[in-house]
Amino acid sequence: MDAVITTVQSTLTRHQNEKRALIAILQDIQAEYNFLPREALEFVAKSLGVPLIDVIGVATFYRAFSLKPRGRHLVTVCLGTACHVRGGPKILSEFVKKLAISPGDTTKDKHFTLETVACLGCCAIGPVVVVDGNYYAHTTIRKVDSIVRKYAKKRVKK
Ligand code: FES
Repeated sequence: MDAVITTVQSTLTRHQNEKRALIAILQDIQAEYNFLPREALEFVAKSLGVPLIDVIGVATFYRAFSLKPRGRHLVTVCLGTACHVRGGPKILSEFVKKLAISPGDTTKDKHFTLETVACLGCCAIGPVVVVDGNYYAHTTIRKVDSIVRKYAKKRVKK
């Protein structure tokens, strides 16, 4: 049996194949693979007796889920109004330059994924960047360099 299906099977068993546990099941799969593989979604739909379109609907509704493979480190740059006027676009440009990818893309080595968000709800500390759930307040171009170096180092240690 395919490794993805085996993992998804154990996730479903843990959640007792409950349809109402769909979000928790998807969270577990996302935690395992850092995205939701298509074959996993198909297997979940079939196992729960839910139309695939419904599973995909849930998977695409929540920002926490991704249907595309993500890198080990998720960099999110806020471009909401408050962060925008405080230099958010310049911060994003610096990440684009340093990582050599566009927003929505993942580096070839699958180390970084770069995304943008409309507002993180902490406008007073903008421009805000979040990496793997860690918030960086009042981000400057110099801080971008240190953030990238910090997470790039984590690659070397592994
Ligand atoms: S606009 Fe960036 S946190 Fe609200």
